[in-house]
Amino acid sequence: MSTPAAQHAPGGAVAARARGLTKAYGSGETAVIALDSVDVEIARGRFTAVMGPSGSGKSTLMHCLAGLDTVSAGQVWLGDTEITGLRDRDLTRLRRDRVGFMFQSFNLIPTLTAAENITLPMDIAGRRPDPRWLDQVIDTLGLRDRLTHRPAQLSGGQQQRVACARALASRPELIFADEPTGNLDSRAGLEVLGFLRGAVDDLGQTVVMVTHDPGAAAHSDLVLFLADGRIVDDMERPTADAVLDRMKRFDVVRERLVEGDGDDGTTRED
Ligand SMILES: Nc1ncnc2c1ncn2[C@@H]1O[C@H](COP(=O)(O)OP(=O)(O)OP(=O)(O)O)[C@@H](O)[C@H]1O
Ligand SMILES: [Mg+2]
Repeated sequence: MSTPAAQHAPGGAVAARARGLTKAYGSGETAVIALDSVDVEIARGRFTAVMGPSGSGKSTLMHCLAGLDTVSAGQVWLGDTEITGLRDRDLTRLRRDRVGFMFQSFNLIPTLTAAENITLPMDIAGRRPDPRWLDQVIDTLGLRDRLTHRPAQLSGGQQQRVACARALASRPELIFADEPTGNLDSRAGLEVLGFLRGAVDDLGQTVVMVTHDPGAAAHSDLVLFLADGRIVDDMERPTADAVLDRMKRFDVVRERLVEGDGDDGTTRED
């Protein structure tokens, strides 16, 4: 399948790409196909949102595109470099240089302060953060007075913002954000979205963001809709209302499918 995301990417302007990307967990009868032969291109310098029901494969897609997880079949490229089959060391270096990742579960180190968590990936890489950029990130995310706190001393939203700052600290060209506003109040959420939007508009960075919130998706340029491990639709220049409408239509289709042959047990909670 060729998605419109592919059609809108001018030659060479692709930040990440997958072809026939399949990811299965487990094997035999208990195997779960999290991604089912996905073809996708993430255009450079754009803000792409990924939506879909819980369990549809959004996090798995992000992890595979970012080179954080192995694939069962298919190919993945970061820029022009095919990462499937790359040696661990080369993949680590490529990821470190190009990719920032905001995990759904934060993945902060409990024994380090917020400031230490933010600069950890750069410290490991032996690189010094640009102090002006780091200041901007910290102030925008409202973390200035929390820098010496450890994760356990921070609220969920504050931990989310530390994870956000960590992903942005090295000013990566490609930022993956897995539900970055999921734990934030609306004001902090808007600030993170504004920051991601600014990273694209002002700095030419590329953002891919998973969200369940139509209002958050409306900040993107393109929404990809996932269902059961496949990209089933997309929407250019989304508005919150249009996204909500589209999600309702999916629900209707799902209900019909379930009513029709409700024996496959694949209904999801949301
Ligand atoms: N480590 C794993 N082992 C086994 N199955 C897994 C694993 N990780 C994910 N899955 C399964 O793969 C499918 C896709 O999971 P994924 O986390 O990508 O969904 P998601 O769309 O991000 O959901 P959510 O909105 O709840 O975060 C789910 O059915 C999930 O149970
Ligand atoms: Mg997820």
